[in-house]
Amino acid sequence: MDKQFLEDVKMGLSSSPKFLSSKYFYDEAGDKLFQKIMELDEYYLTDCEFEIFTSHKADLLEHFVSACELFHLIEFGAGDAFKTKVLLRYFLEQNVAFEYNPIDISLNVIDQLTVGMNQAFPDLALSPLNLEYFKAVEEIGRQSTCRKVILFLGSNIGNFTETEADNFFLKLAALLKKGDQLLIGFDLKKDPEVILAAYNDRQGITREFNMNLLKRINRELDADFNVSQFYHYPLYDPASGSAKSYLISRKKQQVRIGAIPATLDFEEAELIFMEISQKYGLEDIENYASRAGFRIAANFFDRRKYFVNSLWELK
Ligand code: AVI
Repeated sequence: MDKQFLEDVKMGLSSSPKFLSSKYFYDEAGDKLFQKIMELDEYYLTDCEFEIFTSHKADLLEHFVSACELFHLIEFGAGDAFKTKVLLRYFLEQNVAFEYNPIDISLNVIDQLTVGMNQAFPDLALSPLNLEYFKAVEEIGRQSTCRKVILFLGSNIGNFTETEADNFFLKLAALLKKGDQLLIGFDLKKDPEVILAAYNDRQGITREFNMNLLKRINRELDADFNVSQFYHYPLYDPASGSAKSYLISRKKQQVRIGAIPATLDFEEAELIFMEISQKYGLEDIENYASRAGFRIAANFFDRRKYFVNSLWELK
């Protein structure tokens, strides 16, 4: 059993208000549900980033190449690298020297990605790392002095609080050299209805995605959540730019978690805070970059300006 998972669940569900960490959404079932979310009409984020890569790949490449003999394209949480393939294909066609370093903490993801990449791009210099993000950057830095270009896509940063995001950028900056780059996806503030729909899809996949964490706790921590006694409540606050999701208890009930062991009380309408998906203004992005010592080299938008891939360079 994953001890950290147990500790985090125990802490979150004994807090007031109760919360769970969205990083635990991604077990095998959760990965599949997230894959489905990315294919939903309402979930515009993936399409936007795909469009940005397709229309700005030449510009991006111009920024990435440096005086060194190659550059490292390092992708955090690569998954199936669906969007990144647009860049890889183009960079190979242009015959530029680069190495692709996908990073994922799941060995399964790395193995599948390696097979897929070898098939799709036999000429790609591929060097995956099954390590935690910062350890992987350190490792690449030990082996090479060439430019590192980190990809942190999909507005994954939006699942961090502001303090967590600041710490993430500062920690990363400490591992990079002057001229190293970070291409980071930020979902922008826009029509609140568009944003809310992305987290409240008609098919109910996002609801399932949230419920899956309760089911995971049942499976892995010997709990007895009755998921039909909770409902999914997403909301978006256009003033703060925070999309948040909650699970709400339909009635007064008790849930036993065998692995703690403990019996938890839920009041009627009591909530569990599940996830934040922050939306940004351009000034927020500038502030994040400058607080961590980066300058913004360029911002790449989709045609609707729903999303930005911001290219930061360490000063
Ligand atoms: C992974 N992350 C950027 C997604 C998001 O949009 O916050 C996770 C997600 N949660 C519900 N739908 C998608």
